[in-house]
Amino acid sequence: MTPGAGAAGQAAQAEPRDAPGDAPGDTAPRAAIPLSVPEIAGNEWRYVKDCLDSGWVSSVGAFVERFEAEFAARLGAAHAVATTNGTAALHVALRTVGLRPEDEVVMPSFTFIAPANAVRYAGAWPVFVDAEPETWQMDPARVVHFLERQCFWTGSGLCNRATGRRIGALLPVHVLGHPVDLTPILAVAERYGLPVVEDAAESLGAGYRGQPVGRLGQIACFSFNGNKLMTTGGGGMLVTDDPALAEQARYLTTTARDDALEGVHATVGYNYRLTNIQAAMGCAQLERLDALLAAKRRIAARYREALAGLPGVQVMPEADWAESAFWLYSIRLDEEVAGLGSREVRARLARAGIETRAFWQPLHLSPAHSGAPCLGGAVAERLHREILSLPCSCGLALDEQDRVVAALREALGA
Ligand SMILES: Cc1ncc(COP(=O)(O)O)c(C=O)c1O
Repeated sequence: MTPGAGAAGQAAQAEPRDAPGDAPGDTAPRAAIPLSVPEIAGNEWRYVKDCLDSGWVSSVGAFVERFEAEFAARLGAAHAVATTNGTAALHVALRTVGLRPEDEVVMPSFTFIAPANAVRYAGAWPVFVDAEPETWQMDPARVVHFLERQCFWTGSGLCNRATGRRIGALLPVHVLGHPVDLTPILAVAERYGLPVVEDAAESLGAGYRGQPVGRLGQIACFSFNGNKLMTTGGGGMLVTDDPALAEQARYLTTTARDDALEGVHATVGYNYRLTNIQAAMGCAQLERLDALLAAKRRIAARYREALAGLPGVQVMPEADWAESAFWLYSIRLDEEVAGLGSREVRARLARAGIETRAFWQPLHLSPAHSGAPCLGGAVAERLHREILSLPCSCGLALDEQDRVVAALREALGA
């Protein structure tokens, strides 16, 4: 492992917080091979020092504008609006596309909880959709079936027959670096005039049928949390081609300020702007995005080669219409064939100093969202039991990866 300066101490900020030593105040030693730590190896120190030297440390500053412009250019989008984190970006994106309190939002059950929380922040309700087993992403057939067969059309839009609530938006989440199969979802959204908000927090750099993820809906959201492909410590970005959506997002994230001099605010906005210090880090990380992506794909290719054919192990999928960013390299373990469940494998690898991670509780089972309906759910439940994420920091050394593979083989008795 060759993390950049200070990177090792940042693993605790990563979303996978259940590693030894991740709890506040827990002084247990960190795993010898951590799951995912950031790589701070470019101009981060220099750009952040610029902010400290100049005194431009808060949410106004040249790096914020530069980061937005460079991120938009990187994706080929007309506009980008930086936010304090990806959850804030989602909250604002949902509001800007016209989601209203008591609306429903169609989204996957198999995802990190943040997008469902953002739906609730907006006063709306999630309708969860099962994953499909090939790519582990939201099942587009279920989305289409629900909208066409279980909803009805009224003057005010498409409504859920079961609840009478309006469908306010579709929220596909590209999980673990792989895109959702969006074509059928975009088609049905267009048919009923439904906005599509892409949650691309985990899939920066991924491609869908030749287009970058985050360019397919009306608006897309990214995260720069410490565990993401590129990081600003904490941060997010909202990307769109629509100038009205971008303007509204900028307004809402800047406390909806109508008159800065007189301090007039016509509505309740949010203090969701990224700081100049974080944006400085973002500019530096963005310069190395291709290298970070290449590292993820290289790690994935080596795992695929080393693990393919191991009884009970399914390597991370990549559909032929997709280019995965392989954000968090994960395998699926069939306990009956492997003779061992993912939790036991995880415990054995932990004893060998290797940090791995079991996966999200499907949201339709989450106490935080209890009562929300789910279309299907059995696949998400199985993925929850079977998926295990392996160490995949961009700086993972070859011999470290070999140790992970050897420990996994040993745990499985292969
Ligand atoms: C799918 C997904 N959406 C949204 C978020 C929220 O991003 P943030 O942590 O920056 O709020 C995350 C992760 O952090 C995520 O994994």
